[in-house]
Amino acid sequence: MKRNIFVLTGAGVSAESGLGTFRDKRGEGIWGRLDPMKLSSIEAFENDPETVLAFYDLRRRDMRDAKPNAAHFALVRLAATLSQRGGALTLVTQNIDDLHEQAGSRNVIHMHGELLKARCDLCGKLSEWLDDLHVADVCPHCGRAGGMRPHVVWFGEMPLYMDDIERALRHADLFVAIGTSGAVYPAAGFVLEANAMGIETCEINLESADNADLFSEARYGPASETVPAWAEEIVSDG
Ligand code: OAD
Repeated sequence: MKRNIFVLTGAGVSAESGLGTFRDKRGEGIWGRLDPMKLSSIEAFENDPETVLAFYDLRRRDMRDAKPNAAHFALVRLAATLSQRGGALTLVTQNIDDLHEQAGSRNVIHMHGELLKARCDLCGKLSEWLDDLHVADVCPHCGRAGGMRPHVVWFGEMPLYMDDIERALRHADLFVAIGTSGAVYPAAGFVLEANAMGIETCEINLESADNADLFSEARYGPASETVPAWAEEIVSDG
């Protein structure tokens, strides 16, 4: 019986909620059409902040109407079951949307940040941010303009909460990657760490990820079907 499960989610878990993914094998994801280095890198923000902010404004607007799907809800039920068993679900997401929280998940670890928050580079404080963000916006905490940016991790920056993630992985008896292409590190390397620690691994995806051969088990299909089915098996195994 599993007690401690570490789940890593990626854009695929939110795809059926209407939010676009970055990569797929047909080149139809966001990064198949647009250059990430011009829109999602620290260099791009330094050279052309208005373009970068406009890209994230569009993504924030898309998020306003998005609702969680059956995969997000299944993870909430799974967390409750593991907690009753005296264990825990660690939910780490690369997604900057809030669909896990909207579904009811608590303590979600957003390793690539959260788009509904802005950060002030001048004072370091976070603010809830639901509207478009402009270079001239004033920080609600320190009252200064010129330091505001989306609270997201860009290429060239370190993901967040890496120490918490390492610690949680060490206590897991199963590592599951859901809807992530296995193309972006360090998240793509978590499965290697799990293997080195002797932890079982499972990939849940629409199609095989770049690092699929590193997983001991794979389940393919839309997350809204595969995740509830997998979670139900874990719940009924007890
Ligand atoms: P990707 O867009 O790279 O990968 C999405 C994955 O979801 C692919 O493997 C798809 O096969 C899968 N997928 C698509 N639809 C699905 C569905 N309905 N059910 C299940 N799986 C589905 O997204 P991530 O791996 O999350 O980083 O991308 C990682 C990082 O790259 C992002 O966090 C972002 C991006 O650049 C930053 O912005 C720092």
